[in-house]
Amino acid sequence: MKSAILYYSLDGSARCAAQALSRKWAADVIELAERKPRGHGKWDFVKAAFQALRGAKSRLDINVSDAVRPYDKMYIISPVWAGRTVPAVNACLAQCDFTGKQVGILSVQADRDLKGSGEVLDSMARRVESASGQVVFRHGLIGALPGKTISREDMERQINEIFEDVR
Ligand SMILES: Cc1cc2nc3c(=O)[nH]c(=O)nc-3n(C[C@H](O)[C@H](O)[C@H](O)COP(=O)(O)O)c2cc1C
Repeated sequence: MKSAILYYSLDGSARCAAQALSRKWAADVIELAERKPRGHGKWDFVKAAFQALRGAKSRLDINVSDAVRPYDKMYIISPVWAGRTVPAVNACLAQCDFTGKQVGILSVQADRDLKGSGEVLDSMARRVESASGQVVFRHGLIGALPGKTISREDMERQINEIFEDVR
């Protein structure tokens, strides 16, 4: 079974999760990079939160529907912005056809109680299923505060805890 991990990351924690997962099994890693990179100022934060709230879809650097075609199984990792998925993941979920594919979904957020992760994962699952995918796994991960990145050790510990399910 050919597997891929798709992620978007502004501050590095979702990337850290993607890398930790890819070290666990031989999966390709695909970054959902935005064509127009974001800054890290206050206004950028407000704009990002507002875009997430209204469900915006960004323009991606790759043709994501072509990119996922060769894979039977994939994981999609979204940071949580304003209690929602990020625009790059919205674009991915809107463009991909998941017919015949198994899809695992993960969220990454600052809140250590994972507040709102249920809604984020539900909304990702609905979109995967409406694109004919089979959701096989869902899990919320703790990342770091905006502007910070979780340590490799902390992320690996979380991934190790859930790995029996992930496999
Ligand atoms: C615009 C914006 C909004 C955010 N909103 C939330 C939120 O609603 N809940 C939360 O727990 N974390 C929130 N965060 C924190 C991120 O989810 C957290 O920093 C996560 O680790 C980011 O992943 P990344 O490092 O891969 O970008 C927000 C961050 C940004 C930039």
